Amino acid sequence: MANTISIKNKLNSFNKKIKVSSDKSISIRSVLLASQAVGISKITNLLESEDVLNSLKTIKKLGINYSKQGNVYVIEGYGLNSFNIKKKTKLNAGNSGTLARLILGLLVKSKVKVKLIGDKSLSKRDFSRVIKPLKLFGVNIKSKNNLLPIEILGTNFLRPIEYNEYIGSAQVKTCIIFSALNTPGVTKIYSKSSRNHTELMLKFLNYPIKIIKKKGYEIIVVQGLEQFKSFKYNIPGDISSASFFIVLTLLSKGSKIIIQNVNVNPTRIGIINILNKMGANIKLKNKKNYNGEEMADIYVKSKNKLKAINCPSKLNSSAIDEFLIIFLVAAKAKGVSKFKDLGEMNKKESKRLDLAIKFLKLIGIKVERYKNDIQIYGKPNLILSKNYQMKNFLKDHRIFFLSCITALTLGGKWKIHDRDSINTSFPDFLKILKRLGANIN
Ligand code: S3P
Repeated sequence: MANTISIKNKLNSFNKKIKVSSDKSISIRSVLLASQAVGISKITNLLESEDVLNSLKTIKKLGINYSKQGNVYVIEGYGLNSFNIKKKTKLNAGNSGTLARLILGLLVKSKVKVKLIGDKSLSKRDFSRVIKPLKLFGVNIKSKNNLLPIEILGTNFLRPIEYNEYIGSAQVKTCIIFSALNTPGVTKIYSKSSRNHTELMLKFLNYPIKIIKKKGYEIIVVQGLEQFKSFKYNIPGDISSASFFIVLTLLSKGSKIIIQNVNVNPTRIGIINILNKMGANIKLKNKKNYNGEEMADIYVKSKNKLKAINCPSKLNSSAIDEFLIIFLVAAKAKGVSKFKDLGEMNKKESKRLDLAIKFLKLIGIKVERYKNDIQIYGKPNLILSKNYQMKNFLKDHRIFFLSCITALTLGGKWKIHDRDSINTSFPDFLKILKRLGANIN
């Protein structure tokens, strides 16, 4: 059972400085944009997780060379649409929804058919959200029931579109922006707010992209067919990975942590806003601007008394990958926490809303659900002492992390399967836990 871990003890108090893995969203975007830049791009601190390694393999299959020199990834781009695609090319996005959706936006001019596949989890996820806008651009796409495998054949006759991106999905938004890069004329996206790394990176590259802020949405205006030069980028830490250590510290006794050099883009820090509303006192220090992105060190201390939240749904997109771990805080908070409109959670690597409810019930928490709204009845004195087994969660990395943090803060004797799921986003997760004193077998 090498792929199963067991945790039998809570973590003792700690006071440490750590760094978490590099940001996954920015890593994937930097690889894909370097493949479209003119010249040699150099990326340091690239996240070496499966999703990002699959992004590198993907550009290589599309004819882009890269190498690793010391700790620098060197990517040789020849400009927009300079892929050299062989007949019968098959791309495997593995577990990564981001890679799968984004790469489709860069294949809109492909002269040959390209087949896109993924792992078991990705093959259950819906692609209609990108197939629909890509068809409007004029691209030929075939798929059964909007699922993988997808076959895409580009066209020389792309037309710009105006599109209403109402989901609040950065993957959809970026797929459209990438397609717009290859399309003559001006594409306009009316976009519900979501992480804006693509827009910031294109601005940093001096690409003609304009963002017009409106109340509750933005208009993104992209001029097609402009070239941009190669670049250097140093990837910051990932707030989604940091979130597990934020909650670990908050729920452990007498502990403190500093998480250094994390990307704290305002479209990503929903977890900090939500936990501070629940009574945490998480601070961002040493703030810096890096190529349009914000970075900071995150300071967290344990907090004994946390209170329930009525979470405004306008925070959903900025915490979309963090609700699993936020729910654990709600389970320990005083009062009934309310979260609304979380249907998107069920469209992730696993059906996370369904699984979160099962998980909370497993640890003895009352949860009520109405459609995609849930209420969590907090138990501030919750201590676990039974045996728990976590398996069949479609190898969802974030469910694995949640299970470990629960075991280390609330107790119980845990067996957690699919250890290798950590390689999707945060290969050093268990190593860092051990450095904080965790006893994991
Ligand atoms: C991501 C966007 C989010 C997020 C995913 C990464 C990205 O998905 O859940 O982990 O890098 O663009 P959606 O954009 O579909 O919400």
